[in-house]
Amino acid sequence: MEFFECVEKRYSCRSYQDRPVEEEKLERIMEAARLAPSAANRQEWRFITVTDAEKRRRLAEIANNQSFLAEAPVVIAACAAGGEHVMTCGQRSYPIDVAIALEHVALAAADLGLGTCWIGAFKEGPAKELLGVPGEARIVQLMPLGYPADSPRPKTRLHLDEIWMREEWR
Ligand SMILES: Cc1cc2nc3c(=O)[nH]c(=O)nc-3n(C[C@H](O)[C@H](O)[C@H](O)COP(=O)(O)O)c2cc1C
Repeated sequence: MEFFECVEKRYSCRSYQDRPVEEEKLERIMEAARLAPSAANRQEWRFITVTDAEKRRRLAEIANNQSFLAEAPVVIAACAAGGEHVMTCGQRSYPIDVAIALEHVALAAADLGLGTCWIGAFKEGPAKELLGVPGEARIVQLMPLGYPADSPRPKTRLHLDEIWMREEWR
């Protein structure tokens, strides 16, 4: 799929078919995550793919009962290994690095005909306990992955001239 078509095709999928994700597709998607850029090439991201039905049900509960997490055959927990590295610009690198890699996941999935949805509405403590994530590590986001059972909606976005300034903030 052409890149811009893939960007347009990705949407937040909130309903999934009862159909497993092929291992080859999962491997290609995780390879897309691995190739993402990161601050000083720290690669602090770690990913847990959850297929166990009971764990997915618990993750859905932990994520404000967003039941489509249990529906999806795979839920990815996008984690950071730890480290409080702060860049010169003052931003912590790990949430940015994990987010870049996770968007690679979302775009690669779209390219392969799979749906995803970013999930920030979850309680990190119980999710860490469920998945055995150690104290210093963080779960940055969750992401269900599977064949869509819904359809994309039209994108609601600000116009380009509302977000794009030239030369200075206006
Ligand atoms: C960091 C982040 C967290 C999000 N958390 C959730 C969530 O917990 N539940 C949900 O249904 N959608 C969540 N979304 C999806 C957004 O609502 C969605 O991306 C936005 O409305 C634009 O729609 P689209 O993804 O279909 O283009 C999240 C998106 C991002 C980027």
